Amino acid sequence: MIRIENKGNKRVLTVDGTPFFLLAGEVHNSDSSSPAYMEKIWDLADSMGMNTLLLPVSWEMTEPEEGHFDFSVPEKLISQARARGMHIVFLWFGSWKNAECMYAPAWVKQDLRRFPRAQIEKGKDKADRRISPSLPVGVPYTTLSYLAEETARADARAFAAFMKFLRDADGQEQTVLAVQVENETGLLGAGREVSDAADAAFASPVPADFLAYLKGHTDTMVDDLRAAVENAPDCGAWPQVFGDAAEEIFSAYHVSRFVETVASAGKAVYSLPMAVNCWLDKGGAPGTYPTGGPVSRVHEIWDCCAPSIDVYCPDIYVPQFKEVCDEYTRRGNPLFIPEAATHSYCASRMIYTVGHYHAMCYSPFGFDDIGKPFTAIQGFLFGMDVTDPALKTPQDLSEYREVGRMIRSMAPLLAEAYGSGRLQALSAETDPAIPGADRSPYLAKPASMVFDRFCVSVSFQGPGISAGNGACLCLQVNEQECYLAGKGCGIIFRSALETQPNLDFLLVEEGTFTDGKWHPGRRLNGDETARLALEAPGILHVRFFTY
Ligand code: DGJ
Repeated sequence: MIRIENKGNKRVLTVDGTPFFLLAGEVHNSDSSSPAYMEKIWDLADSMGMNTLLLPVSWEMTEPEEGHFDFSVPEKLISQARARGMHIVFLWFGSWKNAECMYAPAWVKQDLRRFPRAQIEKGKDKADRRISPSLPVGVPYTTLSYLAEETARADARAFAAFMKFLRDADGQEQTVLAVQVENETGLLGAGREVSDAADAAFASPVPADFLAYLKGHTDTMVDDLRAAVENAPDCGAWPQVFGDAAEEIFSAYHVSRFVETVASAGKAVYSLPMAVNCWLDKGGAPGTYPTGGPVSRVHEIWDCCAPSIDVYCPDIYVPQFKEVCDEYTRRGNPLFIPEAATHSYCASRMIYTVGHYHAMCYSPFGFDDIGKPFTAIQGFLFGMDVTDPALKTPQDLSEYREVGRMIRSMAPLLAEAYGSGRLQALSAETDPAIPGADRSPYLAKPASMVFDRFCVSVSFQGPGISAGNGACLCLQVNEQECYLAGKGCGIIFRSALETQPNLDFLLVEEGTFTDGKWHPGRRLNGDETARLALEAPGILHVRFFTY
């Protein structure tokens, strides 16, 4: 049985009752259409320590003719995963992919009467959308209408058929652990659809139960939406009720209901955890990002309208990594990152998301590119306008491989500590040292992980620490013992007890884990413990006492 459940202060994925986290990679969009092509990708993923791949499965390939299904490709992908002892999260590319309808079958794309397009300009099925208010150019844009119940029903029938296939093919072995429903939903180019049907819906009354739900869930809302909901009259048309926020709330209501139609049809057949991924709003105005999609500011709306969705997932290419993770976890949503950038924080972010957020999934997008120079699109996505050189440098492949294998080797222990204060982490990206008055890096005050009896301070700059993009997690075993796993960091242990302010080491050893079992290597002392450091990826086992 695969579930998402509470463990301590976190929501965790469990497989037959045991916590499990996905050390994953998402493949490029077209790769999983060919199992033959995938052979080398699986091997690479396995060698990188991954336990799961996120793989697109498209409506156009699984229902090429209406009512005729073909699941031979996902069937082969499942066999490939099993042969390597790995898992899959399938990404259902149905009505939406990057806020467009690229993966709908031909019979859907071509029947514009039965499956109408969204209009962002009245009367037009395809119109230019402006990328930014300051740029005079537009790009041609079309997508399926979120108001079309017939489209939602057709997508739901196909998704239910896919989930039935999964139940029959994999219900016993549980190779597939979750499904992402659609991909980056929402509307680009306008805050809402503007067809005649959309105008009529916008001018009709806001459903009373929806409004009542929002009014009862204002605690966690972002300020402007809370104000709009608190000031809303108890009935009326969308613009009268929600004022300036009406278009965004209207789009989120309809997109999330559409997704719920699809997700609930699939869940009724086979109840796997279901996720939705998100193209972030980056603080932009509605229409500049896929409006109505599961951006964190409208999670309360998605909670109300799409109860079959278990987790909201940010696709993170922006430099503000911690801000996004904090936003997505602030309401108790587990951290599931299906797409992350492959610059040189990539490996450290794995350590950090596991150690700090007790993440359910960390997955670089297009992971087979790790180590290669950035393509133009990658440069655009995460290399532009940033001053931090680490964001402009590709992740080193062998380092990623070492970190991936290291975290995977510790997975049973780490998963066991999920939801507790025994597992903490720091990273150079999120916890830089606070510089001293003279700005010298040597006098800077490093950030600390504080446990009951001890605290671990970690610096990511200084002698012998070259890259400046390190991370370190600490797994407490008991009051006097812990494991540290990290790279690019210097480490200082201190007592956290006022009554016993001193701490000395009893044992420091390097080593490795195999399936959670510790194999000691060198016992460290003398020069090696005078200044404890993990320059290359590695694990330390430390025992100490306070006095
Ligand atoms: C986000 C999408 O969800 C992915 O499928 C892929 O298109 C990436 N963007 C490309 O960077």
